[in-house]
Amino acid sequence: MIAYMYIMRKKNNINKKGLNIMDLNDKQKNFIDLCYKEFGNDLTEITRQQLVQVEKKYKVAFPQWLVADKDLKISKGVYSMPGSVAKNVETKKEDIESQAAYIVSSLTDNVVPNKDKDFVSFGNYGDVKNVITSKKFYPIFITGLSGNGKTLAVTQACAVAKREMIRVNITIETDEDDLLGGYRLKDGQTVWQNGPVIEAMERGAVLLLDEIDLASNKIMCLQPILEGSGIYVKKINKFVKPKLGFNVVATANTKGQGSDDGKFIGTNVLNEAFLERFPITFEQQYPAAKTEQKIVATKLKSAGKSDDKFATNLVTWADVIRKTFKDGGVDEIISTRRLVHIAEAYAIFKNKMKAIEVCTNRFDDSTKTSFVDLYTKVDSGASAESILADKKAAEEAEILSEEKQDSDDSEDGEDTFEV
Ligand SMILES: Nc1ncnc2c1ncn2[C@@H]1O[C@H](COP(=O)(O)OP(=O)(O)OP(=O)(O)O)[C@@H](O)[C@H]1O
Ligand SMILES: [Mg+2]
Repeated sequence: MIAYMYIMRKKNNINKKGLNIMDLNDKQKNFIDLCYKEFGNDLTEITRQQLVQVEKKYKVAFPQWLVADKDLKISKGVYSMPGSVAKNVETKKEDIESQAAYIVSSLTDNVVPNKDKDFVSFGNYGDVKNVITSKKFYPIFITGLSGNGKTLAVTQACAVAKREMIRVNITIETDEDDLLGGYRLKDGQTVWQNGPVIEAMERGAVLLLDEIDLASNKIMCLQPILEGSGIYVKKINKFVKPKLGFNVVATANTKGQGSDDGKFIGTNVLNEAFLERFPITFEQQYPAAKTEQKIVATKLKSAGKSDDKFATNLVTWADVIRKTFKDGGVDEIISTRRLVHIAEAYAIFKNKMKAIEVCTNRFDDSTKTSFVDLYTKVDSGASAESILADKKAAEEAEILSEEKQDSDDSEDGEDTFEV
């Protein structure tokens, strides 16, 4: 039935010669499907010989109804395929305009993500995979700092569970038309194109709403979908029910409450009722040092520049920066993504310091210089603990010296006053 459903979804999708394909009975529809199966979906004309071929191969009755239809006859032994756009028929402009849109899918292939051979599982990956494998409808919200594997974990869970996944990258502009679908121009005709949400529902796929906290309130159209019920798509007057396996996973850098520190520009406060529809939230942290070392070492190896010591140093370096970031000592952070970028840059430029420099150039000068200096310390053998202890001692010394300066100043002030 695939070809049949694909080409003729709407009642008004009438064959150019006037035959309404919706009037065909099941046997006739089946015969047409077999013809498309045998000769391809682009078939517009069919010969008597081809009809006989289908009759014999699939042991079905010869379609007397088709050859007897004068409207379908093109020439001797050649017939127009019901539902197709017959090449030899001149289509009047009014005909095209009067044809109602029919529904098309942009996704004809299987959309199970590919397995990433460099993926290392950690954190919430196991839980995410369990939910996805269960095929239960159980929306998940994953929040965490940038570049710590949120999107990758969902993608890989789908790859391993062999589940189809449709990813939508949300922006402030994302609206109902982007999500549910809209009318598009296709081959000179206006057709309804399913949006990713409807497509995922109809396929029973996992819908990944990436960076959901960048959305405006236009995503509120997803409310009924997050309840697991179907949705009425008013533009095509159709009620779409989710197929078994449909689920929603959202990722975000915030918890949908905005970003107070301004770190995640563009993130918005999401509607409370919308967030309430996600039964669970996972907080994704950066991987533990051992796991991150494995991620970076694996990346170095697959990039052709195996170097476990460099991987360990990079992870120690990132660890110190993250701890300092947490204490407010620095405004930027080194993500797992950036460590992987450095590993890749090293494989290309064959120079560790250059790799670190080009990958930290995006930070302001003082941050970049402090990051590069810090790496040199790590590279010379200093441990994270000793660097942090030194840093703490230096800060305390600075506070003491400032306090001393203040008291000296006030003593000077008192003298002046007395004089
Ligand atoms: N578990 C992992 N195994 C291997 N590589 C990983 C892993 N986690 C993260 N990475 C690396 O970090 C990169 C960033 O991961 P991902 O895009 O999933 O981050 P994210 O948390 O979704 O970031 P953002 O919040 O910016 O969208 C990946 O492309 C990959 O190179
Ligand atoms: Mg992401």
